Amino acid sequence: MRIDILTLFPRMFDGFLTESIIKRAIENKKVTINIYDFREYSKDPHGKVDDTPYGGGPGMVLCPQPIFDCIKSIRTDDSFVIMLTPEGKVYNQEMALNLKNKKHLILLCGHYEGFDERIKSICDMFISVGDFILTGGEIPSMLITDSIVRLLDGVIEKESLETESFNNKLLDYPTYTKPQVYEGMEVPKVLLSGDHKKIAEYRKQEQIKKTKELRPDLMEE
Ligand SMILES: C[S@@+](CC[C@H](N)C(=O)[O-])C[C@H]1O[C@@H](n2cnc3c(N)ncnc32)[C@H](O)[C@@H]1O
Repeated sequence: MRIDILTLFPRMFDGFLTESIIKRAIENKKVTINIYDFREYSKDPHGKVDDTPYGGGPGMVLCPQPIFDCIKSIRTDDSFVIMLTPEGKVYNQEMALNLKNKKHLILLCGHYEGFDERIKSICDMFISVGDFILTGGEIPSMLITDSIVRLLDGVIEKESLETESFNNKLLDYPTYTKPQVYEGMEVPKVLLSGDHKKIAEYRKQEQIKKTKELRPDLMEE
């Protein structure tokens, strides 16, 4: 899979691409991630990428030209262009599972007051990461990239993916590690029993209990 991220702040991605699971996925060629500074595509002599809004109002709006030219230069028949915007569909695991099947994602990060409306015409999808406003689309693009890359074959253990929250509309079961007793709190006995059938039953019941308590909306769906 290839993911191209368009931003005005490429250095924000330095740590993201060079640590932990994303770093390993890149090294193991499970994904190629390119960061494009769309300022480099500006035809303005000073590299300007934004301007004041027509009709007045606060802030600066991203101009269409640098973004159109950048996308046109990297787009292929397999590309799927996503605009990060508070107006988009709110992101969830189901969307991550669908997007992991795309060959080439282009993620477009806004900044300032956001995008000139006409930029929407070259996008295939609009994603929000929640009902709040961030300064830019960089963190949303990292969030989406992370959630997709970890789902790609061979990036993390298949079993870990199968048992985690949101599969089958349930939250994950509670997990414990050593020591067996910590500050008077004990690990549930069933987990020490070695009886795998009982452990599976216990975990399923805990998943249902936890989801009913914390996220009943998932079960209603
Ligand atoms: C300050 S925001 C612009 C907000 C815009 N004026 C509005 O009220 O909808 C700048 C950029 O950050 C990104 N952004 C901010 N909040 C976001 C969210 N919840 N989901 C996805 N992207 C977001 C978008 O790319 C947006 O263009």
